Amino acid sequence: MKFKNLIIHDHPLIAEKLSRLRCKHTKPEHFRSLIKQISILMLYKISLNFSLKKIDIETPLEKTSGNILSDPITLIPILRAGIGMTDGLLSLIPDAKIGHIGIFRDKKTNVPIEYYSNLPKDISKSHVLLIDPMLATGGSACHAVKLLVEQGCKNIQILSLVAAPEGIKRINDSYSTISIHTASLDRELDEKSYIRPGLGDAGDRIFGTI
Ligand code: PRP
Ligand code: URA
Repeated sequence: MKFKNLIIHDHPLIAEKLSRLRCKHTKPEHFRSLIKQISILMLYKISLNFSLKKIDIETPLEKTSGNILSDPITLIPILRAGIGMTDGLLSLIPDAKIGHIGIFRDKKTNVPIEYYSNLPKDISKSHVLLIDPMLATGGSACHAVKLLVEQGCKNIQILSLVAAPEGIKRINDSYSTISIHTASLDRELDEKSYIRPGLGDAGDRIFGTI
């Protein structure tokens, strides 16, 4: 299946770590560590299009020029599971601001319910990475993107670890220019809208609330 704006991070280390993540025997401590490592590996590719600005620096030997990132970056984890990816991303871009959007899926209808939002005031000028390991129906991500667009954000990328075709299609249909990064495009959603083969409930596995 071909999707517009979908970037699959096909890399041996990511594939190996994702398999460990999927395994039902992986305990929360290891699960958190794997999510962090995959997020860092994915950010390498995502950041290839970050813009740079020249600055003057001085080595111990002479004056020269160097680079800093020119655009402010804001990470927006969707609570809860997005929290699991935040630390890894921050380790590479420590100056990034962090906003939070709390959304859970209604257990019966799978409709996203927003319960919290706290975004940096100047977010509209930022390059925004919306982060959530699971993109299932796409309802939560679409809700979060709508919120960000209402705040004036123009440069939004979605970062997930496991995505279902249904969720990708939903985002493509609603936001045709937003790129979606994922470590895996999985087969389908099941009757409860869980991703198959997937990795189960990411929030529960990160926080040990199974
Ligand atoms: C999960 C996941 C996503 C959402 C994906 O959150 O972390 O936010 O479901 O599903 P969707 O694409 O169909 O909207 P969940 O509702 O389980 O909340 P939690 O992270 O608080 O456990
Ligand atoms: N949320 C999850 O955590 N896992 C799924 O498979 C679907 C939604």
